[in-house]
Amino acid sequence: MIIAANWKMNPTLDVAGGLALALTARHFAPVTRLLFAPHPYLVPMSVRLGGSDVRLGGQDCHQDTVGAHTGDVSAAMLRDCGASVVLLGHSERRADHGESSALVAAKAAQALAHDLDVVICLGESLDERRTGRAEQIVIDQLHASLPKEFPEGRVMIAYEPVWAIGTGEVASVTDIAAMHAAITSELPKSKNGHMPPPILYGGSVNAENAASIFSVDHVGGALVGGASLDAAAFDSICDSARLQMLKSG
Ligand code: 13P
Repeated sequence: MIIAANWKMNPTLDVAGGLALALTARHFAPVTRLLFAPHPYLVPMSVRLGGSDVRLGGQDCHQDTVGAHTGDVSAAMLRDCGASVVLLGHSERRADHGESSALVAAKAAQALAHDLDVVICLGESLDERRTGRAEQIVIDQLHASLPKEFPEGRVMIAYEPVWAIGTGEVASVTDIAAMHAAITSELPKSKNGHMPPPILYGGSVNAENAASIFSVDHVGGALVGGASLDAAAFDSICDSARLQMLKSG
């Protein structure tokens, strides 16, 4: 299981330092923890995380290698700042910056070429769910957001229904199971015996609901926003993931 903290544009540097320190204080092996920190904090967080098992990631990167793109950051810059993974196509970037799935695929190709693993985010709006189009929308996003070719073991998927992000509303375990099964069936099968890309669930995951979400088939972990800003809540989510892993052997 993979548990990823997405701090978004939230913590001050002081708060971020405290949270990073808390991440290093406990271990949840065999759970993999990822931390998507704001770009200006990557270097200080990589120092804080030191030799810990928490992998550091950026929250976006540009699709070009280098160039006149004021305010953007390249995949190579993220690498230089200590990141080994990048979050791409988050619904907030799709909404705030008009990012299309084709752009997400180009960013993913760029990140992979620079040795960054990628987490590609997908998710339907409330209107799309209400009108029964959720699965088709997410599957279309999946195919359009994945680069044409990608090395096995380097891509993760995060399913985050837009209406569940930051709202306290969580998709039902039935809906999560159906969507994760649909995504799984569309992912390319491994040719080299690798595990298929893990599918994380995101959207109001917290200490109370994590265990039930992790017990759902094809849920490979969580992408956590609000609760990742609370060290105890995040630890508790990681612990639920660890217990689920031990349970399922
Ligand atoms: P919340 O956990 O705050 O709902 O955010 C989810 C999310 O967007 C993580 O990327």
